[in-house]
Amino acid sequence: MSFKIFITKYIAQFKAMNPKYDVIYKVSTQAPIRFEDPENVKLSFACMADTHLPNRESAEKNLANFFEDVRNSESPFDATLMAGDIADYGFKSEYNRFFRVLDGQKKGPAMLVTIGNHDARAIYRRNTNIVMKKVEEYLGIDTKGKSYYSYDIKGYTFIVIATEKRVLEKAHITPEQIAFLDRELKRATKDGKPAFVMCHQPFAETHGLPEVWKTGDMGEQNDEVRAIMEKYKNVFFINGHLHGGVFDKTLEILNKENNVVSLSIPGYRKPNNFGITDAGVGYYAEVYADRIVFTARNFLTGEPVTGDYTRFEFALI
Ligand SMILES: [Fe+2]
Repeated sequence: MSFKIFITKYIAQFKAMNPKYDVIYKVSTQAPIRFEDPENVKLSFACMADTHLPNRESAEKNLANFFEDVRNSESPFDATLMAGDIADYGFKSEYNRFFRVLDGQKKGPAMLVTIGNHDARAIYRRNTNIVMKKVEEYLGIDTKGKSYYSYDIKGYTFIVIATEKRVLEKAHITPEQIAFLDRELKRATKDGKPAFVMCHQPFAETHGLPEVWKTGDMGEQNDEVRAIMEKYKNVFFINGHLHGGVFDKTLEILNKENNVVSLSIPGYRKPNNFGITDAGVGYYAEVYADRIVFTARNFLTGEPVTGDYTRFEFALI
């Protein structure tokens, strides 16, 4: 084999392994999303995590696929959730690309985004300000300089919690934020409705932690935050960070009696580590009066995902 062929082959293999290197995916319209019982859906939302956007045009285009697939859905969505690690390195150019895509979706479903450790690890204050300014713009709320917020849609509450200082991997959640979570969960669940909490980092000893990632948990306030969530009924915790994929640890029951559940959203940007490892996979939720269904979806290619752990249903209590 000549050196040139060797190099070409090597580069091709490298590109195949790393979708961030300029592979632009097309969204299929062959099998658009259709809810199981569209007439009776009370609330619907699509979740993605870990876009880790580098400053590359292909990355920006592939991010737009998520919204294109949501737009192509036969059943309308109320919200999209992005569980953090927006940017790969925390550069301004990466946020410019991310929010350029989201700016184009302002007329679509409500966009709820949060920061992850990649957003908070280098330049915490500036990056958090960039993200929270957009949160305020998109949702029309005042976050009062905080990195956390809540937002109501059709009488359901989404509570977004996030680190309040620069961290390498974990989150730092102040007592003030924990009190906010407690207060908001109390309000959200008082009429028997489910509530949705989003944080980039999952709880310790869930989703395969610590085996899948030694330091991949929420951090110092882990137990305190978890105890608050477990106090209330029908709390669904959406998180990212682990890049686990669709596997036997994607879903974790935090408290069976109270129906408190944690869903680890696979990473959007890069192949994941276990089970169905495809990039672009997330879950969408259909909330009914008496149940909630989470279904896996490849939003990058606009295709259904089949196999184990691609559909979870919970009766509401
Ligand atoms: Fe992360």
